[in-house]
Amino acid sequence: MSGAAISLAAASAAAEIANPPLPDRTDRVTKKLYIKTYGCQMNVYDSSRMADVLAPLGFVAAESPDGADLVILNTCHIREKAEDKVFSDLGRLKPLKQAQDGRMIIAVAGCVAQAEGAEIMRRAPYVDIVLGPQTYHRLPELVARAARAGGAVLDTEFPAETKFDFLPETSTKPGISAFLSVQEGCDKFCTFCVVPYTRGAEFSRPAEAVLAEARHLVAAGARELVLLGQNVNAYHGAGPDGGSWSLARLLEALAALPGLTRLRYTTSHPLDVDEDLIRAHGELPELMPFLHLPVQSGSDRVLAEMNRRHSVDDYRRIVDRLREARPDLALSSDFIVGFPGESDADFRATLRLVAEIGYASAFSFRYSPRPGTPAALMDGVVPEAAAQARLLELQELLETQQRRANAAQIGRVLPVLFEKTGRHDGQLIGRSPYQQGVHAAAPDRLIGTVAPVRILDATLNSLAGELVETRRDQAA
Ligand code: SAH
Ligand code: SF4
Ligand code: F3S
Repeated sequence: MSGAAISLAAASAAAEIANPPLPDRTDRVTKKLYIKTYGCQMNVYDSSRMADVLAPLGFVAAESPDGADLVILNTCHIREKAEDKVFSDLGRLKPLKQAQDGRMIIAVAGCVAQAEGAEIMRRAPYVDIVLGPQTYHRLPELVARAARAGGAVLDTEFPAETKFDFLPETSTKPGISAFLSVQEGCDKFCTFCVVPYTRGAEFSRPAEAVLAEARHLVAAGARELVLLGQNVNAYHGAGPDGGSWSLARLLEALAALPGLTRLRYTTSHPLDVDEDLIRAHGELPELMPFLHLPVQSGSDRVLAEMNRRHSVDDYRRIVDRLREARPDLALSSDFIVGFPGESDADFRATLRLVAEIGYASAFSFRYSPRPGTPAALMDGVVPEAAAQARLLELQELLETQQRRANAAQIGRVLPVLFEKTGRHDGQLIGRSPYQQGVHAAAPDRLIGTVAPVRILDATLNSLAGELVETRRDQAA
């Protein structure tokens, strides 16, 4: 969940994209675009789509905001810290803009923009554009207006049209593993969460649109697709046959695409895990045996207060059924500690659940009250020190589990999808089926292919091994 600047390759296919109109002749000159992405994978996907929308206007990715013509901060509102980062980064952009005599256009996009648009304009009047996650297909028009207007332009509507219908085909080269948004928004309204307010109501893209984008990504070199959605397993897109497709049906159709070797999806809600999806985990070899299935807490009382709408037992049963279908399934979760009213006994129940399930990895957070959410008004605030102590205890347990899950791979031969070159000469980095990073000495030609790697070493965050094929090559 760290905020990282994404680097986007120059958009050479700009001329082939018929979609967005060019506002005026001067926009044909090459311009520097710097995008900083905070928050979840969905924002990473959105940032690359914003670059796609802007490419026909001559915007080319820059490595730093210094000297950029357009800077976009694609923000996250999930916890207070994420929001604070945006305001401190804006403070750093101000002198850069002044150094360019004000010619830099600063846009704040994403979930903070949606939730705090007016506040951003008040606290940072040098911001030119504020736009929400559902209006970034309008960026060309907003940039043109900002360039003309002087004075900020705000667009945080939830428009009737969907942005996906207005986005050009992606012109940036995807990675070996590429994100593909299939579902957006959330209707669950967990009491702690801002997502239903910042992203709006649940929406699923039609299956044919997803398949078309998938074909395009695979043709451009992607070998693994990670389907994204705030509630991706609530997917129910219109199918080409007129009916509604579930996520399982979509995964099945994607698995049949020639050239595609791996599929993953994230993030899932336990309530939306259905029989078909469980079966897909048993039947689709392309679907990797790793599932991020957040439970948040191991206490029924806390789960009810969070409005998660399932019990701890429901979660256990879902995990059991998934593991029946796919015995080697590795699990990951999100946890919140210090939710209002969480007692020490509630927290102990979370630790017990973690011990029982056994996670390969997990994210854990201290509860952060978010303005406008029901939990922010709840009694029983857990003192910061107590919440922090719980967080550390939980993280220690999760870390032990992660080390154990990684160490358990030592001696095994895993199929690794190589994605890129490593830090050392002659080294490639890839992923195991269980989402672990793996490095091994291997020739560059293996990038984009799955090769067997014998795991020799494991740390908290990655595995190291040797290519099994290389030995055979040498023997031959
Ligand atoms: N849709 C996903 C979660 C998306 S938000 C799901 O339902 O699982 C990612 C994670 O951020 C959540 O799972 C939760 O653990 C954490 N989170 C959300 N709101 C939070 C808050 N107010 N304080 C602390 N953590 C929060
Ligand atoms: Fe937030 Fe809950 Fe929706 Fe996940 S399911 S995005 S935690 S409201
Ligand atoms: Fe953050 Fe918005 Fe994603 S609040 S976690 S960027 S949906």
